[in-house]
Amino acid sequence: MRTLFIAFFAITLLNCPQKNYAQESTDKKWWKEAVVYQIYPRSFKDANGDGVGDLQGIISKLDYIKSLGVNVIWLNPIYSSPNDDNGYDVSDYRNIMKEFGTMDDFNALLKGMHQRGIKLVMDLVVNHSSDEHEWFKQSRSSRTSPYRDYYHWWNADKGKPNPRYSLFDVNHDAWRYDSLTNAYYLHYFSRKQPDLNWENPKLRSEIYDMMKYWCEKGIDGFRLDAFQFAAKDTTFPKFPDGYEKNFSLYYAVGPHLHDYLQEMNKEVLSKYDVMSVAEGAGNSYKDAHDMVDADRNELNMAYAFEGVDIPSNPKGYSVIHFKEVFSRWDSVFATKGWLSIFLANHDQARMVSRFGNDSPQFRELSSKMLTTFIMTMRGTPYYYNGDELGMTNIRFDKIEDYRDMSTLNEYKHQQNIGGDMQKFMDGIKYACRDNGRTPLQWDATKNAGFTSGTPWIKVNPNYKTINVAAEEKDQNSCLNYFRKVVALRNQHKVLVYGKYTLLDKKNPNVYAYTREGEGKKMLIVLNFTANTAQTDIGIAIKNSKLLAANYADGAASVNNSSNIVLRPYEALIYELND
Ligand code: GLC
Ligand code: CA
Repeated sequence: MRTLFIAFFAITLLNCPQKNYAQESTDKKWWKEAVVYQIYPRSFKDANGDGVGDLQGIISKLDYIKSLGVNVIWLNPIYSSPNDDNGYDVSDYRNIMKEFGTMDDFNALLKGMHQRGIKLVMDLVVNHSSDEHEWFKQSRSSRTSPYRDYYHWWNADKGKPNPRYSLFDVNHDAWRYDSLTNAYYLHYFSRKQPDLNWENPKLRSEIYDMMKYWCEKGIDGFRLDAFQFAAKDTTFPKFPDGYEKNFSLYYAVGPHLHDYLQEMNKEVLSKYDVMSVAEGAGNSYKDAHDMVDADRNELNMAYAFEGVDIPSNPKGYSVIHFKEVFSRWDSVFATKGWLSIFLANHDQARMVSRFGNDSPQFRELSSKMLTTFIMTMRGTPYYYNGDELGMTNIRFDKIEDYRDMSTLNEYKHQQNIGGDMQKFMDGIKYACRDNGRTPLQWDATKNAGFTSGTPWIKVNPNYKTINVAAEEKDQNSCLNYFRKVVALRNQHKVLVYGKYTLLDKKNPNVYAYTREGEGKKMLIVLNFTANTAQTDIGIAIKNSKLLAANYADGAASVNNSSNIVLRPYEALIYELND
């Protein structure tokens, strides 16, 4: 029997060329060629004047989205939710949040997108649900409920469970005591976000059914929220003291995570033409690879955080470090696997305020420079709504202006432990995710044209000058520059599949690289600083064609040598011809 098995295997191997086994990064896929535009529905456009963005609002802006050249929308959660965490606490996975509209609105939105050739990626929030989900209500009702094991409970008769860190709780305690059944439930996020128990096959099959429900409606993909935390060692062993400072090392990629992903792939993802992307890429390149190697049949891509976490300090960051991180991640996925490229999302402050320079002098230039970077790297670009306008941090002074539950809880926590409140307030001005959640700035009318009512979070006062209507009229606006580089990416597949090579590695100011493949070679040169900077890229750029430049007058000081002098935040894309 054993010999037979081996013989069978050997024959199969001999008959199949290696390529059938190893799917490579250069293999063509629509989701690699996509440019994803992320919409935060709450802040995009309010159609009915209640101050909250909604699906009809998005529908009314579909022609605008189409005009950007993007071909996929990732929508943050729109399912029924009590909104403890703006939709990341789902109380019914098969319905639409009342504030956002109805299922009819959803159907109309999907139809309108597909008519315009735009695909839809939905957020899939299944590490946890809302505590107002029917499953949790049943689960907490009694120790013998058939839903008990949909969540993680620890009976208090056994004493207190080993500590687990909650990211969002006021006390950062992930175990919440419930007197109803004298037990604790687990919540890695807020206490209104109890963690689902993925060890339970019934729960898993309910989730797959729910995913199929959306696939049958015709959606085109899922973004797996916090899913790397879904698998847990349910004996809840003790972690070393101080583990919470590095909790991800203990929480990410728990036992059976890959089994769950393979099962999800087999049950759902492989049955539809959908893309899948994981939030987080584990703790090692191996973790990340294992999630996205096509041969393993798990997910299509993951987004790693090392890049977006770089400017954790408002005083700035090192360009050499930035280059090193993005080059390293690229090299690890150069032949196999696939990643996403992004510098912002709804959990981050604004891209230009963190990675660029949002002073009046440099906001536009630095924002366009960062856009150039995202659209010319390998990996699928994810671009956050409003960044195409160069929207900036709002920098609230008062805690009352903030809306983000995790920030408000941390404020209370700092008060409770006698923390330095001034330092805390300064920190959130720079880093709080509410900075990225202020309403999209459509025009110079009241509330930036976002709502006729009172917006759920304040509009950035700079909307009078930074808005879609004004930028439409200006040929050199961030908006029109964004359209231009998106069009270049769509047109030149070398920017998707081409090999990436870093040039002038030790240059502390300039990020220069080439992309080569598909019979073409592109050169990208970016000055990441507010000063004039120079780079010797080692390639003469004579006969090359300038495809994009973020200064209105094109490239100023390029001669025929390999030496390029760049103005502050200057960004250039060339097609090299020799
Ligand atoms: C993810 C989401 C974030 C949310 C958290 C809990 O990190 O991006 O917005 O708060 O998961 O669901
Ligand atoms: Ca509304």
